[in-house]
Amino acid sequence: MKHWVSMASWAVSAFLISGLTLGTPSEHAAAFKAEAVAADHFEASKAGAEVLAAGGNAADAAAATMLALGVVNPASSGLGGGGFALYYHAKDGSLTFLDFRERAPRATVPTMFDAETERQPGPANAPSQLGGLAAGVPGEPAGIEALVDRFGKLPLDAVVAPALRLAEDGFAVTDALAKMGEAFDVQLRKDTVMAKWDLRPGAILKRPALARVLRAFAAKGARVVYGGIIGQEMVASVQAHGGIMTLNDLYAYRVRDREPLEASAFGYRWVTAPPPSAGGFTMIQSLSILERVVGKDPDRGAALLHAMAESWKGPFLDRQRYFGDPDQVILPVEGMLSPSRVDQRATLAGDGRAHPSGEYDLPIEWTRQSATAPDNAGTSHLCVVDAEGNVASVTTTVNLPFGARFTGGGIVMNDEMDDFSRAGGEANAFGLVGGHRNLPGPWKRPVSTMSPTIVLQAGHPVLCVGASGGSRIVTATQQVAMNVLLHGMDAGEAVSAPRIHHQGIPDTLRVEQVAPLASELQDALRGLGHRIEPIYNIANVQVIQIERQPERGLHAASDPRKGGRPAGR
Ligand code: DON
Repeated sequence: MKHWVSMASWAVSAFLISGLTLGTPSEHAAAFKAEAVAADHFEASKAGAEVLAAGGNAADAAAATMLALGVVNPASSGLGGGGFALYYHAKDGSLTFLDFRERAPRATVPTMFDAETERQPGPANAPSQLGGLAAGVPGEPAGIEALVDRFGKLPLDAVVAPALRLAEDGFAVTDALAKMGEAFDVQLRKDTVMAKWDLRPGAILKRPALARVLRAFAAKGARVVYGGIIGQEMVASVQAHGGIMTLNDLYAYRVRDREPLEASAFGYRWVTAPPPSAGGFTMIQSLSILERVVGKDPDRGAALLHAMAESWKGPFLDRQRYFGDPDQVILPVEGMLSPSRVDQRATLAGDGRAHPSGEYDLPIEWTRQSATAPDNAGTSHLCVVDAEGNVASVTTTVNLPFGARFTGGGIVMNDEMDDFSRAGGEANAFGLVGGHRNLPGPWKRPVSTMSPTIVLQAGHPVLCVGASGGSRIVTATQQVAMNVLLHGMDAGEAVSAPRIHHQGIPDTLRVEQVAPLASELQDALRGLGHRIEPIYNIANVQVIQIERQPERGLHAASDPRKGGRPAGR
């Protein structure tokens, strides 16, 4: 069983891609003077740009882009999912982190995924991945509403308009969507809404069931899901698919404001996702280790790649041991990031050889406290910068492609419950083995890797970046940011460059097939003791570089691995 799941985890990753050959001429990058949107689907970037041109700001445009993504790429994100948004408010320089991640239904118990059940045909078919039990209570509708209400300038219906138009008039199915549709076809055919979709490349797909939801959302806001007719239909469908979600779970859902994590490294201020993401923590610890090991101005050679791989091993072990929903478990974030711990790990990472991951395990001495009051692929990252200088960095997801592969009220439901740990210690779809603090529990949010990030210099944002791609989100985000900020690449080059990935367990350094690392670098890494294995690709990154001098210009890029394209003016 354990073996099967971990094999499946890498098999699933093969669906999280589009299969473009990198390096071919492409429109994945562009420069803009005033405002830009980089999403992983051109129609979604255009939806955001349209809202900017109509007088909206970065919050309005991010919301419009999220809604459009839910229409044009139902495999990756949508109203049935959730995510994180990091928002830079130019007027006062403040940064707000909104957590609209799904949370478990109230009736959830830690052992709910332990029983062996008969599996339906098709990939990713564990009970935490497919069907009613897999679906967490969606946060996306509340997250979109919070972004618009708190930071936006336009009424909700203006923000919904481009997505509604796409749902009603239809859009051409991309190669990326067609590939995922093919891979999951046997399951999609069982859903009354998705069975009707023609997902052949270039086919025009209309989404009338979702258009009805979008019209209701535009008129009445998120309450149509959190208690209204759409919510009632959603709960009925979840329960008909064997789930335990109730209307009360929807009523009780709340977006959470959280303090973003941040660190100074390489002359920049890096602001990123806090728990329940472990991604931001991984990036911040890695950067601190790297600065100690490779100095302030490293070349992009084997020494840096080696140090990077080593720097990720410890934080991924910390994730397993300590991470859970910060509303329900106390996380020793300060202890985990303590300078002495960074020093110890930096000493290992800097001694010129690859260490087994276990050597980076540094248990923290602290009083373990129990829970406080209980209270190719899914996922998409987008960046928006508006003419006022506001920045939105948003990662949104239904988890695996097409989420739990059923619809409720016309909305594709997530399978975010797979991000919890299993009591039995099996890995999730991304090969991540979680600890007891991340076991499923009532109204608990599962640990994530999503890492929407904004990097600042001298008080000004210089980069918006983030990714989709499960456990590989954070390592890819960090590499693209370093490519721009440390290695002087332009945005387009930075997202196309080959990437590596290490997540502690398995103790393997991954290199991409779609963008292979130069063979001499691979040889050098092998020589340092790394066990190298290929993987089709490592995540999909969207980025906007914000130039400060002499005239503010924006360089936006969507990852050619997923076929997106930025828009703006
Ligand atoms: O929150 C997380 O880390 C995962 N649910 C993200 C899943 C993902 O990125 C899927 N694929 N590309």
